Amino acid sequence: MKKEMKCKVIPVNVNAPFSKNLFGIFLESIGTCIYGGLMVDPDSELPQLCGMRLDILDALKKLKISIVRLPGGDYTDNYHWQDGIGDVEQRPVHWNGNWKQQDPNRFGTHEFIALCEYLGAEPHFVTNLGTGSVEEARAWVEYCNLPAGTKYADMRVKNGRKDPFGVKYWAVGNEPFNRGGLMQPEYYAYLYRNYAYFMRLMDPNIELVMGGVFNEPEGWNEKALEIICNEWRPPVPEHMSVHAYIHGVPKTDYTPEEYYQVLLNLENGRRQLYQNVETCKKYSKNGTQIRLSIDEYAAWHGVARDPHLFTPMSMLDAIVAARMLQYTAMMGDAVSMLCASVGINALLSLIMTKGDAMSLTPAYYAYLLMSEHIGGEIYGLEAEEELLKIGNDKEVPFVTSCVTKHEDKVVVSLVNASLSEDVDVMITLEELLGKGRKKGQITRLEAEDVHDENKPGEPEKVIPSREEVVISDQKTAWVLKKHSICILEVKI
Ligand code: AHR
Repeated sequence: MKKEMKCKVIPVNVNAPFSKNLFGIFLESIGTCIYGGLMVDPDSELPQLCGMRLDILDALKKLKISIVRLPGGDYTDNYHWQDGIGDVEQRPVHWNGNWKQQDPNRFGTHEFIALCEYLGAEPHFVTNLGTGSVEEARAWVEYCNLPAGTKYADMRVKNGRKDPFGVKYWAVGNEPFNRGGLMQPEYYAYLYRNYAYFMRLMDPNIELVMGGVFNEPEGWNEKALEIICNEWRPPVPEHMSVHAYIHGVPKTDYTPEEYYQVLLNLENGRRQLYQNVETCKKYSKNGTQIRLSIDEYAAWHGVARDPHLFTPMSMLDAIVAARMLQYTAMMGDAVSMLCASVGINALLSLIMTKGDAMSLTPAYYAYLLMSEHIGGEIYGLEAEEELLKIGNDKEVPFVTSCVTKHEDKVVVSLVNASLSEDVDVMITLEELLGKGRKKGQITRLEAEDVHDENKPGEPEKVIPSREEVVISDQKTAWVLKKHSICILEVKI
């Protein structure tokens, strides 16, 4: 049976446009994310840039990826940046104990910056608190951001780069409460102050990201922020990092109940993010707003196991990604970035590779569709609220939406999470559109079966399709298929 959804555009209280910084990715040397994924084998004939596969770079560029975070993740606390500079042939091979593999260090600071510059994205480095030092972190800022004339800046010039890289985002540690050192908040806070002070001495314009906790243990963030922000000359961070991992499905052939449970977990995660934002607000002082840096997120499925975290990507992941983008956009400027973790061949992969073959996952296409919202002023859709019941008493939204108004177009995104019901959508765009007939386009991402994947080397099963629509008297109607995402774009 088909449901009906009659809705109209309404103003909402979101204090910032749909941010490009929600289109970030996190890369880490896990499994084949970097080596065997992003980086070509040394003797490969694939077109490349500084050892990176150009087909991957071009696919990421289409998504308007705005921030790339490196080197971890957990690996950060074993990573020494000086191993990854200079002659590639001379770089030491390091044991990546976190993910149980060798790191040949062929993808280092210069290659990473080349990637960011190719994409037009901001680099985001995470410093090593576990086995590194304040001096190592301070020197990295000097290497990246100072003009020639000092020890580390001159080293950069010697390695082929005259102008500073101008790296803006610097995180002080990764998950310090967890595998980043199992630190008590008080201990981390004092370490943070020390790192932050000396890193900022190198470049006062960098933005610092403190490590925070998404949902436990209780009170960790507040205790750390209390010390960081309330003591003498607080080095207030511009961002607090949280890793929004949503508990996923236990197996690839998940049941409807397991599928809906993930969407319910996402709703709980959304509430948790609002709490994280409240904590940030409470400690935003002395003119610095602390914003939430959701620099890792994914639905973490049961099949994603150490050490490689490889995870098949189905329509469920596309739906989670599209909703996460909608939800974080609605949080306005309280969220400074959102990074898909890990963007290639692990967890929330946007791209997968197998040898020379590559595929774009359903989540990739969700990002592609949602990128049409970037920069637009955010509106809401008012509809009769329809909820999916899960079990006896739990509910998740049936259809979620976002509307943006741009100089030349209006964009509406809709995500139908139902596994069984298509929806007859009727939208009135009223104040956003002048009267008369307008031309529009609907782009749909649909899958015959919600479990469908796009596998490298096989024809892609889940790909967007596009059709023209006419909007008369500010109204339009179409069928939104079960477990699908769609975007309506109307030129104004
Ligand atoms: O992305 C995999 C791991 O998950 C990261 O290394 C860590 O930060 C997180 O817990």
